[in-house]
Amino acid sequence: MNKTNTAGIISTGKALPVGKLTNFDLEKIVDTSDEWIKARTGIEERRIITGNETASGLAARAASIALERAGLSPAEIDVIIVATVTPDQTLPSTACLLQDKLGAFNASAFDLVAGCTGFLYGLDVGIRYINSGAARYILLVGVDTLSPIVDWQDRNTCVLFGDGAGAVVLGKLEEGRGVLASKMYSDGSKANLLYVPAGGSTRPATRQSVEERAHYIKMNGQEVFKFAVTVMVDSVQEVLALCGKTAADLDILAPHQANLRIINFACKRLKMQPEQVLVNIHRYGNMSSAAIPVVLDEAVEEGKLKVGHLVGLVSFGAGLTWGAAIAQW
Ligand code: UT7
Repeated sequence: MNKTNTAGIISTGKALPVGKLTNFDLEKIVDTSDEWIKARTGIEERRIITGNETASGLAARAASIALERAGLSPAEIDVIIVATVTPDQTLPSTACLLQDKLGAFNASAFDLVAGCTGFLYGLDVGIRYINSGAARYILLVGVDTLSPIVDWQDRNTCVLFGDGAGAVVLGKLEEGRGVLASKMYSDGSKANLLYVPAGGSTRPATRQSVEERAHYIKMNGQEVFKFAVTVMVDSVQEVLALCGKTAADLDILAPHQANLRIINFACKRLKMQPEQVLVNIHRYGNMSSAAIPVVLDEAVEEGKLKVGHLVGLVSFGAGLTWGAAIAQW
């Protein structure tokens, strides 16, 4: 991309469920310990939807904040993209439910499924809409409510995930700012490292599928871990090269929040200082598509992320999918 492509993130917002589940709460549910979870993942607590909280409801709260900060009314949005693996229901899309909640009736709306890389895939699609002139403003939401599809009897997975939503408004920024480069990847041959066996059209819900707990997330954690440490570093270096930069130019890294050990490894390999790397996994666990927009929103609110900063964004997830982007904030 050259310097005239100036689509980027205009504003951010987030919404988190009120319910909190600490490692000590989990000690009462499965055979685990606060010590193990903290040492192996960095997670201390996570937010969990309760009562009538939903993915579309969290998305609407996050989106309203982002729209207000952008100074836009819902009617000015041309496209709504919701990155999620946990839609409110199979049909219709959560993006359409969100459109209705916001009253964004001039927008087209669709969901995008790319596991935990969903937000970055949405960013990649959204900036291309804007740079091509097909849209002026896009509302991109990363939302996941994983708690209903986590197996609360499986200590290998249930300690890792949390629920939340992050939203951004995309539009043209002044020259020099915006997303300078982005590149997404996938490798479907690794689909069975992280998946939900039942509930789709090949294996609809039956008494047997429920009894076999086949509607819950299954994961080969070690293999995903090995994959993640490689692609986190390689994909950042690739997008840096695409815009003629190196890791030394980065001010801030906003990585997917799946495991603090993965984040620390990437930070070390990219020779970044810990204070340059955005981390909130201790408070929220892995919120899948919501992880990056929420950590960006917090960094903006805390004044860590400022106009002019060069930011690296990187993620990986089910698919397997992965990708990275470089933004001049
Ligand atoms: O967005 C993408 C989503 N997924 C990921 O990013 C996952 C990437 N993978 C990981 O983060 C790590 O592989 C995990 C955190 C999932 C697991 O950490 P690990 O260091 O790879 O542990 P492990 O799977 O090798 O298990 C080590 C031991 C095992 O016991 P034995 O066989 O050595 O006796 C596990 O049974 O830890 C045990 N274990 C636990 N112990 C206490 C696994 N989960 C737990 C637990 N509490 N929650």
